[in-house]
Amino acid sequence: MALNDAAKLLGQARHVVVFTGAGISAESGVPTFRDALTGLWSRFDAQSLATPQAFQEDPELVWGWYEWRRQLVRRVGPNDGHRAVAQLAAHVPQLTVITQNVDDLHERAGSTSVVHLHGSLFAPRCATCSRPAPLPETEDQPDEGQRVAPPRCVHCGGPVRPGVVWFGEQLPEAALESAARAASECDVLLTIGTSGLVYPAAEIPRLAARSGASVIQVNPRPTPLDPIATANLVGPAAEILPALVTTAWG
Ligand code: OAD
Repeated sequence: MALNDAAKLLGQARHVVVFTGAGISAESGVPTFRDALTGLWSRFDAQSLATPQAFQEDPELVWGWYEWRRQLVRRVGPNDGHRAVAQLAAHVPQLTVITQNVDDLHERAGSTSVVHLHGSLFAPRCATCSRPAPLPETEDQPDEGQRVAPPRCVHCGGPVRPGVVWFGEQLPEAALESAARAASECDVLLTIGTSGLVYPAAEIPRLAARSGASVIQVNPRPTPLDPIATANLVGPAAEILPALVTTAWG
């Protein structure tokens, strides 16, 4: 199905869900996870960096790695893909943006009320008492793999951890609930830049399809979501999304 058909679906929709993964931020310079060579999980070991056990065993390694990623995100900006998503809000009666990304590029492009299924690099909390902790004031970016001591919680003295979801952890309940509700109620779901491999997040586009929504996929590569895509737009998000919005609304 071509861009024109996808634009038509979008133009007629009452409630659109935008579901994004690391691919939408790739053209901003934020690495994805599973792309060969450049993906974070082809260069780093997820078990030693993105699990509660990893933080317990080596908090400085884990905190330093997330600080490296947070400072990387601070140094880049949203791209035309994020901006096209923000523009959609002005065109469709109801828009819900759900992201697996821990960056803040949707917000910086102008999207509001973004549902963050995997948490945020910008919301650290105490690993012991769970209370929110302030972000470190430093603007220095650690080197890749550099150990940095996590700050201590001002309330209980526990180590501060990144506010992201690690492997083996539950997704934030309220975020997952509102994502599932939107997916089951929408008439079009746009899935952008995700491999669709990580559950339960990957259930969101599948739930929309089962509930009768049309699924439009934007991705340069095949994914396991191909079979449920009504329209499969093959290419980079920063090119396809502005073209889609222009085709739908001129
Ligand atoms: P992945 O790295 O698994 O997938 C990125 C997807 O983006 C791939 O399908 C690429 O083909 C696609 N892509 C690459 N460049 C693109 C571009 N310019 N435009 C559009 N698409 C592009 O990332 P996610 O699916 O987001 O979880 O990964 C899901 C979760 O796995 C992440 O949230 C993270 C990770 O482990 C946690 O850390 C809990």
